[in-house]
Amino acid sequence: MEIVIRDDAAAVHALAADIVERCVVAGDHLGGPVLGLATGSTPLGVYRELGRRHREEGLSFARARAFLLDEYVGLPTAHPQSYRSVIRDEFAALVDIDPTAIDGPDGEAEDVPAESARYDRAIAEAGGIDVQLLGIGTDGHIGFNEPGSSLVSRTRVKTLTEQTRRDSARFFDSAEDVPHHVMTQGLGTIGEARHLVLLALGAGKADAVAAAVEGPVSAFCPASVIQLHPRVTVVIDEAAAAGLQLADYYRYAAAHKPSWQGW
Ligand code: PGA
Repeated sequence: MEIVIRDDAAAVHALAADIVERCVVAGDHLGGPVLGLATGSTPLGVYRELGRRHREEGLSFARARAFLLDEYVGLPTAHPQSYRSVIRDEFAALVDIDPTAIDGPDGEAEDVPAESARYDRAIAEAGGIDVQLLGIGTDGHIGFNEPGSSLVSRTRVKTLTEQTRRDSARFFDSAEDVPHHVMTQGLGTIGEARHLVLLALGAGKADAVAAAVEGPVSAFCPASVIQLHPRVTVVIDEAAAAGLQLADYYRYAAAHKPSWQGW
Protein backbone atom coordinates (compact mmCIF):
# COMPACT_ATOMS: atom_id res chain seq x y z
CA MET A 1 0.00 0.00 0.00
CA GLU A 2 1.08 3.52 -0.65
CA ILE A 3 -0.30 5.91 1.96
CA VAL A 4 -0.23 9.57 1.01
CA ILE A 5 -1.09 12.23 3.56
CA ARG A 6 -1.95 15.60 2.05
CA ASP A 7 -2.60 18.93 3.73
CA ASP A 8 -6.19 19.41 2.72
CA ALA A 9 -9.12 18.16 0.68
CA ALA A 10 -8.08 20.03 -2.46
CA ALA A 11 -4.69 18.29 -2.46
CA VAL A 12 -6.34 14.89 -1.90
CA HIS A 13 -8.72 15.51 -4.78
CA ALA A 14 -5.91 16.71 -7.07
CA LEU A 15 -3.82 13.58 -6.49
CA ALA A 16 -6.79 11.28 -7.05
CA ALA A 17 -7.57 13.20 -10.25
CA ASP A 18 -3.93 12.72 -11.34
CA ILE A 19 -4.30 8.95 -10.92
CA VAL A 20 -7.58 8.88 -12.86
CA GLU A 21 -6.14 11.11 -15.58
CA ARG A 22 -3.13 8.85 -16.04
CA CYS A 23 -5.45 5.85 -16.32
CA VAL A 24 -7.67 7.64 -18.84
CA VAL A 25 -4.76 8.73 -21.00
CA ALA A 26 -3.10 5.27 -20.88
CA GLY A 27 -6.40 3.46 -21.46
CA ASP A 28 -7.07 5.50 -24.56
CA HIS A 29 -4.33 3.56 -26.32
CA LEU A 30 -5.77 0.21 -25.28
CA GLY A 31 -9.40 -0.88 -25.24
CA GLY A 32 -10.53 2.32 -23.53
CA PRO A 33 -10.19 3.08 -19.80
CA VAL A 34 -12.56 1.43 -17.33
CA LEU A 35 -13.24 3.52 -14.23
CA GLY A 36 -14.78 2.45 -10.95
CA LEU A 37 -16.75 5.36 -9.52
CA ALA A 38 -17.69 5.92 -5.90
CA THR A 39 -20.41 8.18 -4.55
CA GLY A 40 -20.68 9.82 -1.14
CA SER A 41 -19.28 13.28 -0.54
CA THR A 42 -15.54 12.46 -0.56
CA PRO A 43 -14.98 11.86 -4.30
CA LEU A 44 -17.09 14.82 -5.48
CA GLY A 45 -14.06 17.12 -5.52
CA VAL A 46 -12.23 14.58 -7.70
CA TYR A 47 -15.06 14.72 -10.22
CA ARG A 48 -15.05 18.52 -10.16
CA GLU A 49 -11.29 18.55 -10.75
CA LEU A 50 -11.64 16.07 -13.64
CA GLY A 51 -14.39 18.30 -15.05
CA ARG A 52 -12.05 21.26 -14.87
CA ARG A 53 -9.29 19.33 -16.65
CA HIS A 54 -11.80 18.32 -19.32
CA ARG A 55 -12.92 21.91 -19.88
CA GLU A 56 -9.58 23.65 -19.59
CA GLU A 57 -7.05 21.01 -20.63
CA GLY A 58 -8.97 18.83 -23.05
CA LEU A 59 -8.87 15.66 -20.94
CA SER A 60 -11.31 13.39 -22.75
CA PHE A 61 -13.41 10.56 -21.36
CA ALA A 62 -14.94 9.80 -24.75
CA ARG A 63 -13.56 6.26 -24.78
CA ALA A 64 -14.07 5.57 -21.07
CA ARG A 65 -16.52 3.19 -19.52
CA ALA A 66 -17.48 3.37 -15.87
CA PHE A 67 -19.02 1.17 -13.20
CA LEU A 68 -20.64 2.33 -9.98
CA LEU A 69 -19.75 0.72 -6.67
CA ASP A 70 -23.25 0.41 -5.33
CA GLU A 71 -26.87 1.50 -5.47
CA TYR A 72 -29.85 1.81 -3.14
CA VAL A 73 -32.42 -0.93 -3.55
CA GLY A 74 -35.97 0.25 -4.04
CA LEU A 75 -35.11 3.88 -4.71
CA PRO A 76 -36.39 4.87 -8.17
CA THR A 77 -33.46 5.41 -10.56
CA ALA A 78 -34.85 8.89 -11.25
CA HIS A 79 -34.62 9.82 -7.54
CA PRO A 80 -31.95 12.54 -7.15
CA GLN A 81 -30.15 10.44 -4.53
CA SER A 82 -30.00 7.25 -6.57
CA TYR A 83 -26.33 6.74 -7.27
CA ARG A 84 -27.00 6.67 -10.99
CA SER A 85 -28.46 10.18 -10.66
CA VAL A 86 -25.59 11.35 -8.46
CA ILE A 87 -22.95 10.12 -10.92
CA ARG A 88 -24.88 11.58 -13.86
CA ASP A 89 -25.09 14.99 -12.18
CA GLU A 90 -21.74 15.10 -10.36
CA PHE A 91 -19.48 13.40 -12.91
CA ALA A 92 -20.99 12.64 -16.32
CA ALA A 93 -22.42 16.16 -16.69
CA LEU A 94 -18.92 17.62 -16.21
CA VAL A 95 -17.04 15.55 -18.80
CA ASP A 96 -17.58 13.97 -22.22
CA ILE A 97 -18.18 10.37 -21.12
CA ASP A 98 -20.94 8.58 -23.04
CA PRO A 99 -23.78 8.30 -20.47
CA THR A 100 -24.67 4.87 -21.86
CA ALA A 101 -21.13 3.69 -21.03
CA ILE A 102 -21.87 4.05 -17.30
CA ASP A 103 -23.30 0.97 -15.60
CA GLY A 104 -24.50 0.46 -12.06
CA PRO A 105 -26.50 -2.11 -10.17
CA ASP A 106 -30.18 -1.58 -11.01
CA GLY A 107 -31.81 -0.75 -7.69
CA GLU A 108 -35.24 -1.27 -9.22
CA ALA A 109 -34.52 -4.80 -10.44
CA GLU A 110 -37.19 -7.30 -9.42
CA ASP A 111 -34.70 -10.15 -9.28
CA VAL A 112 -31.87 -8.77 -7.16
CA PRO A 113 -29.65 -11.89 -7.24
CA ALA A 114 -29.93 -12.04 -11.04
CA GLU A 115 -29.13 -8.34 -11.34
CA SER A 116 -26.16 -8.78 -9.00
CA ALA A 117 -24.79 -11.63 -11.13
CA ARG A 118 -25.36 -9.57 -14.30
CA TYR A 119 -23.39 -6.73 -12.80
CA ASP A 120 -20.34 -8.84 -11.93
CA ARG A 121 -20.47 -10.31 -15.42
CA ALA A 122 -20.66 -6.86 -17.02
CA ILE A 123 -17.55 -5.73 -15.16
CA ALA A 124 -15.67 -8.86 -16.20
CA GLU A 125 -16.82 -8.54 -19.83
CA ALA A 126 -15.52 -4.95 -19.89
CA GLY A 127 -12.10 -6.39 -19.07
CA GLY A 128 -12.22 -5.41 -15.39
CA ILE A 129 -11.85 -2.02 -13.73
CA ASP A 130 -8.56 -0.15 -14.18
CA VAL A 131 -8.87 2.35 -11.33
CA GLN A 132 -11.44 2.01 -8.57
CA LEU A 133 -12.14 5.07 -6.42
CA LEU A 134 -13.26 4.24 -2.90
CA GLY A 135 -14.55 6.23 0.05
CA ILE A 136 -14.67 4.67 3.49
CA GLY A 137 -17.56 4.63 5.93
CA THR A 138 -17.15 5.54 9.58
CA ASP A 139 -17.85 1.86 10.27
CA GLY A 140 -15.08 0.76 7.89
CA HIS A 141 -17.24 -0.11 4.91
CA ILE A 142 -16.08 0.22 1.30
CA GLY A 143 -18.80 0.20 -1.27
CA PHE A 144 -21.64 -0.71 1.06
CA ASN A 145 -19.89 -3.77 2.44
CA GLU A 146 -20.81 -3.35 6.06
CA PRO A 147 -18.95 -5.03 8.96
CA GLY A 148 -19.29 -8.79 8.68
CA SER A 149 -19.02 -8.77 4.89
CA SER A 150 -17.18 -11.73 3.44
CA LEU A 151 -13.75 -10.70 2.24
CA VAL A 152 -14.39 -12.59 -1.01
CA SER A 153 -18.00 -11.45 -1.52
CA ARG A 154 -19.51 -10.69 -4.91
CA THR A 155 -22.10 -8.06 -5.84
CA ARG A 156 -25.18 -8.70 -3.72
CA VAL A 157 -27.79 -7.08 -1.50
CA LYS A 158 -26.71 -5.75 1.90
CA THR A 159 -28.58 -4.25 4.84
CA LEU A 160 -27.19 -0.90 5.94
CA THR A 161 -26.16 -0.41 9.55
CA GLU A 162 -28.04 2.22 11.50
CA GLN A 163 -24.77 4.20 11.63
CA THR A 164 -24.51 4.25 7.83
CA ARG A 165 -28.16 5.26 7.53
CA ARG A 166 -27.51 8.12 9.98
CA ASP A 167 -24.37 9.13 8.05
CA SER A 168 -26.39 9.17 4.80
CA ALA A 169 -29.37 11.04 6.23
CA ARG A 170 -27.88 14.40 5.24
CA PHE A 171 -28.54 13.57 1.59
CA PHE A 172 -32.25 12.89 2.18
CA ASP A 173 -35.19 14.98 3.43
CA SER A 174 -35.38 12.88 6.57
CA ALA A 175 -33.43 10.00 8.15
CA GLU A 176 -36.40 7.66 7.62
CA ASP A 177 -36.11 8.17 3.86
CA VAL A 178 -32.68 6.46 3.70
CA PRO A 179 -33.29 2.99 2.24
CA HIS A 180 -32.40 -0.03 4.39
CA HIS A 181 -31.05 -2.09 1.52
CA VAL A 182 -28.41 -1.63 -1.13
CA MET A 183 -26.75 -3.60 -3.87
CA THR A 184 -22.99 -3.32 -3.69
CA GLN A 185 -19.96 -4.70 -5.44
CA GLY A 186 -18.56 -7.31 -3.08
CA LEU A 187 -15.15 -7.11 -1.50
CA GLY A 188 -13.99 -9.81 -3.91
CA THR A 189 -15.40 -7.82 -6.84
CA ILE A 190 -13.68 -4.63 -5.69
CA GLY A 191 -10.42 -6.54 -5.20
CA GLU A 192 -10.35 -7.47 -8.88
CA ALA A 193 -9.85 -3.85 -9.92
CA ARG A 194 -6.26 -3.28 -10.97
CA HIS A 195 -5.67 -0.21 -8.81
CA LEU A 196 -7.61 0.78 -5.69
CA VAL A 197 -7.59 4.43 -4.65
CA LEU A 198 -9.10 4.93 -1.21
CA LEU A 199 -9.88 8.51 -0.19
CA ALA A 200 -10.74 9.82 3.25
CA LEU A 201 -11.17 13.33 4.62
CA GLY A 202 -11.70 14.64 8.12
CA ALA A 203 -11.34 13.54 11.72
CA GLY A 204 -14.53 11.48 11.53
CA LYS A 205 -12.68 8.99 9.32
CA ALA A 206 -9.51 8.72 11.42
CA ASP A 207 -10.53 5.57 13.33
CA ALA A 208 -11.79 3.80 10.22
CA VAL A 209 -8.63 4.67 8.27
CA ALA A 210 -6.39 3.43 11.09
CA ALA A 211 -8.34 0.16 11.32
CA ALA A 212 -8.28 -0.32 7.55
CA VAL A 213 -4.58 0.42 7.08
CA GLU A 214 -2.95 -0.71 10.34
CA GLY A 215 -5.48 -3.06 11.93
CA PRO A 216 -5.92 -6.77 11.28
CA VAL A 217 -7.46 -7.91 8.00
CA SER A 218 -10.94 -8.67 9.18
CA ALA A 219 -14.54 -8.67 8.06
CA PHE A 220 -15.11 -6.48 11.13
CA CYS A 221 -13.42 -3.66 9.20
CA PRO A 222 -14.23 -4.49 5.56
CA ALA A 223 -11.87 -1.81 4.21
CA SER A 224 -8.97 -3.75 5.74
CA VAL A 225 -9.26 -6.11 2.76
CA ILE A 226 -7.25 -3.52 0.78
CA GLN A 227 -4.18 -4.89 2.61
CA LEU A 228 -4.49 -8.01 0.44
CA HIS A 229 -4.43 -6.06 -2.84
CA PRO A 230 -1.18 -5.61 -4.78
CA ARG A 231 -1.82 -2.02 -5.84
CA VAL A 232 -3.46 0.39 -3.42
CA THR A 233 -3.07 4.13 -2.98
CA VAL A 234 -4.61 5.56 0.18
CA VAL A 235 -4.95 9.35 -0.13
CA ILE A 236 -6.05 11.14 3.02
CA ASP A 237 -5.87 14.53 4.66
CA GLU A 238 -4.07 15.24 7.93
CA ALA A 239 -7.25 14.93 10.00
CA ALA A 240 -8.08 11.49 8.59
CA ALA A 241 -4.48 10.41 9.24
CA ALA A 242 -4.65 11.31 12.94
CA GLY A 243 -5.01 7.69 14.12
CA LEU A 244 -2.11 6.26 12.10
CA GLN A 245 0.81 5.01 14.18
CA LEU A 246 3.23 5.10 11.25
CA ALA A 247 2.13 8.45 9.79
CA ASP A 248 5.69 9.83 9.96
CA TYR A 249 6.99 6.86 8.00
CA TYR A 250 4.29 7.28 5.34
CA ARG A 251 5.24 10.96 4.98
CA TYR A 252 8.91 10.02 4.76
CA ALA A 253 8.25 7.33 2.14
CA ALA A 254 6.16 9.76 0.06
CA ALA A 255 8.90 12.41 0.28
CA HIS A 256 11.46 9.84 -0.88
CA LYS A 257 9.33 8.22 -3.55
CA PRO A 258 11.66 6.96 -6.29
CA SER A 259 11.53 9.40 -9.18
CA TRP A 260 10.83 6.61 -11.68
CA GLN A 261 7.81 5.41 -9.72
CA GLY A 262 4.60 7.03 -10.90
CA TRP A 263 1.19 6.97 -9.30
P1 PGA B 1 -18.61 9.95 2.40
O1 PGA B 1 -19.04 8.42 2.43
O2 PGA B 1 -17.66 10.10 1.27
O3 PGA B 1 -19.87 10.72 2.18
O4 PGA B 1 -17.97 10.24 3.73
C1 PGA B 1 -18.07 7.44 2.26
C2 PGA B 1 -18.69 6.06 2.36
O5 PGA B 1 -19.63 5.88 3.14
O6 PGA B 1 -18.22 5.16 1.68
